[in-house]
Amino acid sequence: MTADGFAAFAAEWTPRVEATLESLVPPAGESPTDLHRAMRHALFPGGKRLRPLLALLAARVTGGDPERALRPGAALELLHTYSLVHDDLPCMDDDDLRRGRPTCHKVFGDAVAVLAGDALLTLAFEIVAEAGAEAVRCLAAAAGSRGMVGGQAADLAAEGSLATATLDGLQSIHDRKTGALIVASLEVGAIAGGATFDREGLRGYGERIGRAFQIADDCLDVTGTAEEIGKPPGSDVGRDKLTYPALIGLEAAQQLARDLANEAAELAPRVVGTAGGAVTLDAGRKLLQDLASRVATRSS
Ligand code: IPE
Ligand code: IPE
Ligand code: MG
Ligand code: MG
Ligand code: MG
Repeated sequence: MTADGFAAFAAEWTPRVEATLESLVPPAGESPTDLHRAMRHALFPGGKRLRPLLALLAARVTGGDPERALRPGAALELLHTYSLVHDDLPCMDDDDLRRGRPTCHKVFGDAVAVLAGDALLTLAFEIVAEAGAEAVRCLAAAAGSRGMVGGQAADLAAEGSLATATLDGLQSIHDRKTGALIVASLEVGAIAGGATFDREGLRGYGERIGRAFQIADDCLDVTGTAEEIGKPPGSDVGRDKLTYPALIGLEAAQQLARDLANEAAELAPRVVGTAGGAVTLDAGRKLLQDLASRVATRSS
C-alpha cells in the first residue's frame, strides 16, 4: 500500500463517514428503544465501510465533489448493513458473530432484528433521495429481486448444489448478491458528485471488483480467523454453501480474484477519463488500481 493510495483516502474520509452515519440514525434512547438500539448495534462499530468509500472515491475520480457523496454513501452503508442483519438470521446463514460482536438477532431476538433491517433499508432510501431520482432508481434496482435480494435467494437455493454447479451460475449469484451493491455504490457516488462520467466504464470496473470482493470473502471463510474477519470462519463449509473455493479450489479462487483485480485496473483510465476537479488523472488511476488489488488480496 502506497501512502497516496486507497489507505490514505480511507483514512481521510472514514471519520466523516462515521459522523454522517451517526447523525442519520435515531438515538438509542428514542422510542422504540429496542429497535433503535438494534439498528445501532448493527451499524456501530462498523466494518470496513467499503461502500461509502467507493461512493466517495467515484465522486472524486470522476472529477466531482466527494462532499456531495457523503450522505448518499452513508445510505449505501445503511442498506448494506440491513443485508448483513438479515443474512445472519437463523432462517438464512444462521451466524452468531458479525463485525466482531454477537449478531443483531442474538442480542435483540429475530423479530427486532428483522425490523431493524427493514428500518435501515427504508432509511437508506430516505437519504439517497437527496441525490435525485436516478440515484434512487439505481439503488433500488441494485437492492431488489434482480439484484442483491435475488442473489441472496439464489445463494440459499444453491446450498448443497456443488455437484451440479457451474462457474457461470456461481458468478451470477455473486454478481447479484454482492456485485450489484458495489456497482451501485460507485454509480450513486459518481451521480451525487455531479460530474459527467463514463457509466459503462465505471460499471465494468465495479463488476470486476465486486466479483473479486466476494471471491475473497469466500476464501477468507476458509483461511481467516474470527479475529481477522469478525465473523465465524467455516460458516460456508458448515452450511454446504456454493463458493469459489468449494467449486475450483482455494488457490484457483485466489488467483481468479487477482485476475479480476487486474482486469478492473485496466479499466481505470476509462473511469477517470478526462475528469477535472481536485484529483489529477494519474492520482485517480492509481487510487482505482490500488483499490482493486486491495479488494482481491484483503485479509479482513
Ligand atoms: C460482507 O461485506 C458481506 C459481503 C458482501 C461479502 P463486508 O466484507 O463489506 O462487511 P463489512 O461491512 O466490512 O462488515
Ligand atoms: C452475503 O454473502 C452477501 C450479502 C448480501 C449480505 P455472505 O453470506 O458470504 O456474507 P458473510 O460472509 O456472511 O459476510
Ligand atoms: Mg449469505
Ligand atoms: Mg453470510
Ligand atoms: Mg461470506
